[in-house]
Amino acid sequence: PVKVTKICCIGAGYVGGPTCAVIALKCPHIQVTIVDLNEARVDAWNSEDFKLPIYEPGLEEVVRKARGRNLFFSTDVDKGIQDADLIFVSVNTPTKKSGVGAGFAADLNYVELATRRIAAVANSSKIVVEKSTVPCRTAESMRTILEANSKPGCHFDILSNPEFLAEGTAISDLFAPDRVLIGSLQTPEGIAACVALKDVYKNWVPAEKVLTVGLWSSELSKLAANAMLAQRISSINALSAICEATGANIDEVAHAVGKDTRVGPKFLKASVGFGGSCFQKDILNLVYLSESLHLPEVAAYWRQVVEMNEYQKRRFAKTVVDTLFNTITGKRIAVLGFAFKADTGDTRESAAISLIRDFQDERALVNVYDPQVPHDQIWLDLQEASPRLPIEQIKKQVTICPSALEACRNAEAVVIATEWAEFREIDWEAVYKNMNKPAFVFDGRLLVDAEKLRKIGFKVTSIGRGERL
Ligand code: NAD
Ligand code: UDX
Repeated sequence: PVKVTKICCIGAGYVGGPTCAVIALKCPHIQVTIVDLNEARVDAWNSEDFKLPIYEPGLEEVVRKARGRNLFFSTDVDKGIQDADLIFVSVNTPTKKSGVGAGFAADLNYVELATRRIAAVANSSKIVVEKSTVPCRTAESMRTILEANSKPGCHFDILSNPEFLAEGTAISDLFAPDRVLIGSLQTPEGIAACVALKDVYKNWVPAEKVLTVGLWSSELSKLAANAMLAQRISSINALSAICEATGANIDEVAHAVGKDTRVGPKFLKASVGFGGSCFQKDILNLVYLSESLHLPEVAAYWRQVVEMNEYQKRRFAKTVVDTLFNTITGKRIAVLGFAFKADTGDTRESAAISLIRDFQDERALVNVYDPQVPHDQIWLDLQEASPRLPIEQIKKQVTICPSALEACRNAEAVVIATEWAEFREIDWEAVYKNMNKPAFVFDGRLLVDAEKLRKIGFKVTSIGRGERL
């Protein structure tokens, strides 16, 4: 049996970083090296004052305990590969922007480059683990590339081990996962590699939580899990529109529906729309896969989950304009939150980006505040959302503020885009005093106590609440 003593992870991002830091923490006998081509990122992981490249509650503590002991970050990808007996490939797989499948298919260029690098430099046998989210049967392509380019005597076993962590709760998700999924070929070598990886997880994950399946099931399960989670949000958001039109209350509906143990209470929170780097990308990937397999009805079914999300974001922006007497031109709007969810500094596909773009198109002035997102990132995202606007024009319309209170000063309306706990606790009396009247609040996260705010004098609109204003 193979015994893993040295692990290399290619990709020091939101997944590779936390995942392998936790492996290092829980397995002091295994040396873990996380490598990345991005030097700035690696430097941040190695920074003396622990200014890590990503914000994730509990992550710093894990890195503090393991870094320098059996956890290392490096730009020397080749050495990382050569030293390891097991290699995680945890590189990005964004949606393709051009060429065949543009806008839908996953861009597998980074996975392929990493795989080719492994083949080129490895001088002993390795277990190669697909950690990135990839289309079904990618492991086969990886194997073909590895076998065609390997040195004599080097044998590669490919495993699929998709990651289910959610940002903002990555460390607790990794400490106590609902399940760990490992896919392998059902050959003696494939099964032996699977056991070797299982033994790594056994250091802290109960054996019954480690599911071992075939390679293709493992790859597809990851896309399926994200599609079904996102589908719940689009379902509840579709119902939120009905609530607003009828006077029903989406929280009450979600609670009543979720009480059915077959449905369950989680992931039924209506919102301004889901964001994050995974849901949209993975569903589009599934749509593309379905179309490639000549299953147009299946593709259309999943595509609607993304379309409903786009509709929800547009619908919310339109509600703001409609409520502010059909024009927001020259009006100041405070957007609270820019990250795609609370407890992360990640902004990928954040609903706040499209909201602000829509407000800009209406020629409004926007004040934005987020407790974690770096200012440079906000400018980058807004520029990407409005590629034709010069950045000077964007900076004329948008101001980044140092606090929620500051952002709301002299505004006509406050829009809650991210569910940061601190927005619930801000001094709403003070906010009210500093705003123009009538003062509007649009709660895109069902975060604040609407009744309390109304008593102060605010005119409050919440997602999925019939009783407007
Ligand atoms: P990321 O962009 O944060 O990190 C990827 C890193 O890989 C980058 O730092 C990049 O520089 C590096 N990289 C790319 N090609 C490389 C190469 N050839 N050699 C060395 N380094 C290379 O991405 P992420 O959010 O960590 O996602 C990684 C994968 O995990 C994706 O497939 C994603 O779908 C999946 N995933 C993400 C999440 C999440 O919450 N972010 C959750 C589950 C799964
Ligand atoms: C998701 C999956 O949850 C995770 O298992 C997978 O590994 C990666 O993709 P993530 O995108 O990090 O994780 O966060 P998640 O908590 O799933 O939230 C995604 C988006 O949905 C956020 O914008 C969030 O605010 C929104 N959301 C979530 C809702 O609008 N309502 C809900 O009930 C839950």
